[in-house]
Amino acid sequence: MPQFPKGEKAPVDGLIPESALVDVESRTFHAYVHVPYCEVKCGYCDFNTYTADEIGTSTQGTFANTLISEIDFAEVALEKSGFVKREFTSVFFGGGTPTMLPATDLIAMLGKLKNTFGIKATADITTEANPDSVDEQYIKDLKAGGFNRISFGMQSAVPHVLKVLERTHKPENVGKVVGFAKAAGLATSVDLIYGAPGESLADWQQTLEAAIALDTDHISAYSLIVEPGTKLARQVKIGEVEAPNDDIHADMYELTEQLLSQAGFLNYEVSNWSKNISERSGHNMAYWKSMDWWGFGPGAHSHVGGVRWWNVKNPAAYSDRMSAGLSPALEREIIDQENRDIEKVMLETRISDGISLEWMKSKGFAESNVVAGLIADQLVEPIEAMRGHIILTAKGRLLADFVVLKLLG
Ligand SMILES: C[S@@+](CC[C@H](N)C(=O)[O-])C[C@H]1O[C@@H](n2cnc3c(N)ncnc32)[C@H](O)[C@@H]1O
Ligand code: SF4
Repeated sequence: MPQFPKGEKAPVDGLIPESALVDVESRTFHAYVHVPYCEVKCGYCDFNTYTADEIGTSTQGTFANTLISEIDFAEVALEKSGFVKREFTSVFFGGGTPTMLPATDLIAMLGKLKNTFGIKATADITTEANPDSVDEQYIKDLKAGGFNRISFGMQSAVPHVLKVLERTHKPENVGKVVGFAKAAGLATSVDLIYGAPGESLADWQQTLEAAIALDTDHISAYSLIVEPGTKLARQVKIGEVEAPNDDIHADMYELTEQLLSQAGFLNYEVSNWSKNISERSGHNMAYWKSMDWWGFGPGAHSHVGGVRWWNVKNPAAYSDRMSAGLSPALEREIIDQENRDIEKVMLETRISDGISLEWMKSKGFAESNVVAGLIADQLVEPIEAMRGHIILTAKGRLLADFVVLKLLG
């Protein structure tokens, strides 16, 4: 795997090196807002998020205002760094659980993004939500306040799987809130997780069928990752729960592709399916295409023209920095061209648009015998390869990391 440069201390004025301006007109600009609060911490999750038991509630009440000060900070830092102001092509509120905050707070942050930078008329403006944290009025308020898409953390439809994942919602609530979202005119998506300890293939089929019956525009299905340092990792280590099994994951992925494609969903990235191209997550596509984005909020990551930085994780430390008028960025890295090329292969191989073979060859990747081997192993679409594109087969998607390593040589 490539070695990326280690982070260096980020400058307190937030200025971005001139190198990031090269080819700026070829890249779109996106906003991510990280809301780091959850009602309970799920045992498998290592996202930067905190419960009231861990950090109290003092930063939560002032969170929207603190984040709004980062939007002002970003405006100044980008302008001083020589960037012409760009409207956002997508906005994504993630977490954590953004919907732990009142809808008025989310709308205030969105309004500030719009007034400061502008948001394109075609932008998808999404928030993640836990099914228990919203009601009909909340969803109507989000729509009236400018959001046009909502992604619910469904994870599973099977009670014993939800329990092992430590999810607190009742399965029937997902149908209810998806219904409210559709009635309000929001585009809808659900997140699913497969391969939880004790989950059978039949359990997973039940979850997929329940998700399909919701008739959302989009479904994400992630294989459960045992993240180091999580409660789940400790449970696996002491044998309290069994470690996820790669063979079962593979069967589950194949079933996912089979049932979702039968139901009219098209896979467009290893873990993502949508009914139409227009219903893809424009925001995630921007990540996979290495566009520019500013990540607002504690622990959020940003990327502008090969410069990547990440904010302090703790909400109180984030708030202190913002009150002092200092950049919330902790560290940054400036990615050289070679590593940017490697990243492009790693990210774009995973999307169904594929990646140009000619471009890869010009960079010394994708040697002919390697490509021939990947075709022979049915990991890469042969006709697309003849047309000059590397696009993974369903089997190739399952082994995407292996294919990437092969292509990189
Ligand atoms: C960070 S959560 C935020 C959304 C919301 N709090 C929720 O849980 O529904 C985004 C998604 O990441 C996925 N996720 C988080 N940790 C994961 C893990 N260890 N393995 C696989 N998927 C994970 C879940 O599907 C989750 O819906
Ligand atoms: S999965 Fe979602 S709800 Fe669970 S801890 Fe992570 S961010 Fe919070």
